[in-house]
Amino acid sequence: MSLIKSSYMGLPKLGFGTIWIGGRRWPVNNASYVRPGREEVTRALDTVARAGIRMIDTAHGYCDAEFELKEYFKANPGFAASSFITTKLGEWVNPDTYESVAQCSERDLYRSVMMSLHYLGRIDVLYFHKPLDQDVLANAGIRETIEWMLLNGFIMNCGLSASKAEVLETLMSRGLIWPYFVQTSYDVYSDRYDLIERLYDMGKKIVINGPSRLRKEETPEAIFKKLMANPKVHFVLTGTRHHLDENIGYCQET
Ligand SMILES: NC(=O)c1ccc[n+]([C@@H]2O[C@H](COP(=O)([O-])OP(=O)(O)OC[C@H]3O[C@@H](n4cnc5c(N)ncnc54)[C@H](OP(=O)(O)O)[C@@H]3O)[C@@H](O)[C@H]2O)c1
Repeated sequence: MSLIKSSYMGLPKLGFGTIWIGGRRWPVNNASYVRPGREEVTRALDTVARAGIRMIDTAHGYCDAEFELKEYFKANPGFAASSFITTKLGEWVNPDTYESVAQCSERDLYRSVMMSLHYLGRIDVLYFHKPLDQDVLANAGIRETIEWMLLNGFIMNCGLSASKAEVLETLMSRGLIWPYFVQTSYDVYSDRYDLIERLYDMGKKIVINGPSRLRKEETPEAIFKKLMANPKVHFVLTGTRHHLDENIGYCQET
């Protein structure tokens, strides 16, 4: 059975998030996290590829996730060529302590994009991670560099990733939502749907992450089905390690 399609480029609406594959503890408070071996990563990505998922969401801050993708892409060039690859910059994580630092100067932007390109081969969306912490969207030098990267084909689109409603609200009030893609959390979707509608009316492409994080009032099935049916949501990411087949099933055409 095929996956429900997004109105954006007819891509499947379900995307795969890769935080756990590269050694970054996920979920963040999961003290029993153990880094997966190459076999487990390959199995998960084989399932992703077979199901027809094409949006692969990663980040420079997900420890070795980009490197793991590089190895998989090398062995599966057809999948690499048909994937829609999104990554993020601006968060640097210590793989031993999981301590995270938000930092994005112009130099970090070049460094991060060149490393991501080396690993991934292509960047369909480059998101700013934690954009408010660094006031990065108000920085004229950063914006010029992004324009230059877009014009010269280093990146295909730019986005911002903000999981909290307050961050989105502040960025909106300051007129700083110039990136085309906006990734936000299911918490924002659920608690502040007005923000999703405003972003949609601004013409943004909306990506929702974390649909299955612990919620007593809704099942993952109900959440995925609701998001799949909403045309204002362009993509939904799952970053599951143990429920992949199940979540894929919720996002298939009936
Ligand atoms: N930019 C950001 O700030 C940000 C923040 C969060 C996420 N993301 C991106 O979005 C991706 C998706 O987010 P996510 O990992 O939070 O997605 P998710 O699919 O909602 O997974 C979150 C948690 O829910 C559990 N889960 C998933 N499906 C389930 C099901 N059917 N039944 C019961 N439990 C289930 C998972 O456990 P198991 O792993 O044990 O299956 C996992 O612990 C990430 O991988 C990342 O790429 C970005």
